[in-house]
Amino acid sequence: MKKDVIIACDFSSAAQTFAFLDRFTERKPFVKIGMELFYSEGPQIVRELKARGHDIFLDLKLHDIPNTVKKAMHVLSSLGADIVNLHAAGGSEMMRAAVEGLTREDGTRPLLIAVTQLTSVSRERMNEELRIPGSVEDTVRAYARNAKASGLDGVVCSPLEAGLVKDACGADFLTVTPGIRFADGDTGDQSRVTTPAKAKEIGSDFIVVGRPITAADDPIAAYMRCVNEFCD
Ligand code: C5P
Repeated sequence: MKKDVIIACDFSSAAQTFAFLDRFTERKPFVKIGMELFYSEGPQIVRELKARGHDIFLDLKLHDIPNTVKKAMHVLSSLGADIVNLHAAGGSEMMRAAVEGLTREDGTRPLLIAVTQLTSVSRERMNEELRIPGSVEDTVRAYARNAKASGLDGVVCSPLEAGLVKDACGADFLTVTPGIRFADGDTGDQSRVTTPAKAKEIGSDFIVVGRPITAADDPIAAYMRCVNEFCD
């Protein structure tokens, strides 16, 4: 898959999502469906957006015992999403089970990526509450290596961590990065942010962009600005 801009469709209904996406007539955006939209509309939203021609990153961040994750991934695989994800914290047995569950009879499967550490988790919280010692970067590197060894295709990480993931796991291991803002834009509640151009320079494969596009006065212009800065 080529480098692309993924729009985070953080809407609560299908109607709002379709009204928003119908405005993009020139280029069908790759879209991310998160928990809010999936839980309010159900699996049909994935089939429907796929039928409308969008590539889909289904961001449900699974984390459970291996057998449960395997069976859930089997269901998600049948919906036609292009990228799905889970928490690397679930461990290698869970990740290997996920790959098995995702793989269809013909051997194909969606790309599977792992969340390493959420960007909302600080070093203090990770050390003291989650009881993981060391730096966030060390955990991201170790979790990314574990994800790769378990057969996954990449990780979700901060764009600022994309370089260290590539160094640890190789250029082909995908980095999908939220936390994107324009140089002249608001950062909102994201703390570790960078621009689409800088994310490209660091080595990100897909940028996930929500409010800088969805809340823009002209979402199509904002999307095209991301595409022009990030895509080849
Ligand atoms: O609006 P904004 O560009 O901040 O949206 C970023 C999207 O990426 C949201 O859907 C958010 O849930 C998601 N995300 C994130 N940080 C992570 C993982 C996912 O911002 N570590």
